[in-house]
Amino acid sequence: MLLHIPGLFEKDEVQRIREALEQADWADGKITAGFQSAKAKHNLQLPENHPLAKEIGAAMLERLWKSPLFMSAALPHKVFPPLLNCYTAGGSFDFHIDNAVRQPKGSMERVRTDLSATLFFSEPEDYDGGELEIQDTFGTQRVKLPAGDMVLYPGTSLHKVNAVTHGTRYASFFWTQSLVREDSQRALLFEMDGAIQQLTRDLPDHPSLIRLTGTYHNLLRRWVEV
Ligand code: NI
Repeated sequence: MLLHIPGLFEKDEVQRIREALEQADWADGKITAGFQSAKAKHNLQLPENHPLAKEIGAAMLERLWKSPLFMSAALPHKVFPPLLNCYTAGGSFDFHIDNAVRQPKGSMERVRTDLSATLFFSEPEDYDGGELEIQDTFGTQRVKLPAGDMVLYPGTSLHKVNAVTHGTRYASFFWTQSLVREDSQRALLFEMDGAIQQLTRDLPDHPSLIRLTGTYHNLLRRWVEV
């Protein structure tokens, strides 16, 4: 499942973040790449413990935890702290699949990368190219979202970032370990949750709502891993 989550940050917030990113000291993106993907990766990244990365990452997680769409779709168990990247002057990241397990620097805890996410901090008209291309069962999806918006997609999918041939593309990316490992099961629960929310608005007193909500939780209980 590929999901667009709009407006996690307002335009003035995005502007302030972008200004801070323009002043930052960037490092080679290969610092967090595996052996294989280092060959495909040509971009810049803030080091994991960079104060600005930590500050923006913390603000993102606070927003995400308040986003009903993210909570319902990702069913998050734990999140790898968001990283920040910059593509400019022809920078690109060729087709790859993300490493299955990630360990944040200085942490004992490991995160299984069930879901990948990219939050855009540059407006689409600020740069040429730079689309996130994701191959899934419906074919290739090309994603280039307004600043402040995020895309969530399965960590299992083959993806790439096209070369930025003009301007600069700032974004954040991170991984989520879900309570439910399988994308197809998460998609089913997300659909059902959405339908229950809609019914709760339209027919709040309907007695079947209790049974449907119960069935949602009984499916979740069957699939959940903690
Ligand atoms: Ni990737």
